[in-house]
Amino acid sequence: MKRLVFLGPPGAGKGTFAGLFAERFGTVHISTGDILRAEIKAGSRLGIAARQCVDSGELVPDEVIVGIVDHRLGEPDVAGHGFILDGFPRTVRQAELLEEALKTCGWELDAVVLFAADRDLLIRRLTARRLCQGCGKVYNVLYDPPCAEGICHCGEPLYQRPDDSRETALGRLEVYQRQTSPLIDFYRSRGLLKTVDSAGEKSAVMAGLCRVLGVE
Ligand code: AP5
Repeated sequence: MKRLVFLGPPGAGKGTFAGLFAERFGTVHISTGDILRAEIKAGSRLGIAARQCVDSGELVPDEVIVGIVDHRLGEPDVAGHGFILDGFPRTVRQAELLEEALKTCGWELDAVVLFAADRDLLIRRLTARRLCQGCGKVYNVLYDPPCAEGICHCGEPLYQRPDDSRETALGRLEVYQRQTSPLIDFYRSRGLLKTVDSAGEKSAVMAGLCRVLGVE
């Protein structure tokens, strides 16, 4: 059972490989971005409050996001199967609060995986990403296109995340540099950081991920 954080810039593949790893090893995948988008779709109070930050690529306030993660970590599947935190923490403050929350449960992180790719590739991936309005499956018109243009295999239409426009994606990369990249040193200093080159094909990236985590 693993307790992991997946770190890296937008488009590096955190969500893709958290999903594949969870499917293969049964670890619980917790994506703060997916939770926020679901709240926005449901029109909840949290969703209404978070919408402007998410659509513009700015970070949601630390206290809001930490509350969401705390609650999710308390659910029984996490205790039994471990977790992958995808997109959290994103600031040093969030990382400190996560440490406190884990300590309260008597848990520790096993590793923090940094997914690394160059900026041009990240922008290409983000602007080509499409999601299904129905089942939520993620496609990429350049690297993983649907069989029928604009339509998921489940028959529902695909859409582009508002924050995947080129302009907002560039802004998100700046937010990452400014607010999230300090976590690389934060976790390196704790001996937890593992780096995976995420520029290759999915099978190669998955193999690299399994190698750094020592799993088959
Ligand atoms: P979030 O949803 O977490 O967005 P992100 O971190 O910017 O990450 P992405 O989903 O864009 O990228 P990814 O690395 O998961 O890439 P993916 O695997 O999809 O957050 C959205 C917003 O919510 C934030 O901007 C913020 O407002 C808010 N938020 C969330 N968490 C927060 C927090 N902790 N604090 C405050 N605010 C928070 O891959 C991208 C594309 O590339 C896909 O199409 C995929 O198919 C393709 N791809 C990936 N890898 C490969 C490969 N190896 N080969 C071919 N194609 C690939």
